[in-house]
Amino acid sequence: MYNKGTIIPGLIIFVLLVTFPLWFNAFSTASDVPKVELPPGGEKQCVAPAAEMRASHMVMLNEWRDEVLRDGKRTAVTVGGKEYRKGLQMACMECHTNKEKFCDSCHLYTSVKPYCWDCHLTPGQAKKETH
Ligand code: HEC
Ligand code: HEC
Ligand code: HEC
Repeated sequence: MYNKGTIIPGLIIFVLLVTFPLWFNAFSTASDVPKVELPPGGEKQCVAPAAEMRASHMVMLNEWRDEVLRDGKRTAVTVGGKEYRKGLQMACMECHTNKEKFCDSCHLYTSVKPYCWDCHLTPGQAKKETH
């Protein structure tokens, strides 16, 4: 004999589990970008408007690298009245001091793995090296 008392709830649970991706996506928009941690130092502006940074920070970093290394142009950028020397560690990471909670939270989500950190130090590593 089948036991209706356990089959029906069992079926309901089964259907819910199988369709989980469907209704889960309906309630949370799949296009949500991860929440990134803004600079803990309290800076309010980036080197360019946020939307532009989101779209093309990779291009900017490449341009900066070429300017500094090929052309020797170590110009500074001024943000909110303060000067930053062009560079990954000298500019970006001065404000975005938590690579893990900033850069990585997006990159993990989008499966991008910049190889920059093979050579460049994250603020966390830099701290360890000097202490
Ligand atoms: C093979 C090692 C290596 C890798 C990998 C690497 N870099 Fe560099 N990068 C260097 C060295 C060495 C310098 C020169 C440092 C100096 O002269 O100040 C440099 C300088 C730079 C500079 C100019 C100013 C500065 O010192 O920050 C930028 C910007 C830069 N790299 C960005 C990047 C980015 C973005 C990536 C990843 C896409 C990357 N680098 C990957 C070794 C590397
Ligand atoms: C002077 C401090 C400062 C420097 C230097 C800086 N940032 Fe920012 N960055 C910020 C702030 C503050 C925001 C948030 C701005 C906003 O929401 O309007 C931001 C936003 C961003 C965003 C968009 C994040 C989002 O909301 O989705 C990216 C990507 C980014 N920065 C990357 C970089 C990179 C790469 C560099 C180096 C080329 C850099 N930043 C240098 C302060 C800085
Ligand atoms: C708002 C999300 C977001 C944040 C925050 C962010 N990135 Fe990215 N980053 C991306 C995306 C998306 C790509 C891939 C873009 C593409 O392939 O067109 C990318 C690509 C890159 C690349 C090129 C890698 C490659 O292999 O082509 C570099 C370098 C890079 N990011 C550096 C940084 C650094 C350094 C930070 C922190 C200071 C940072 N990003 C923060 C979203 C982000």
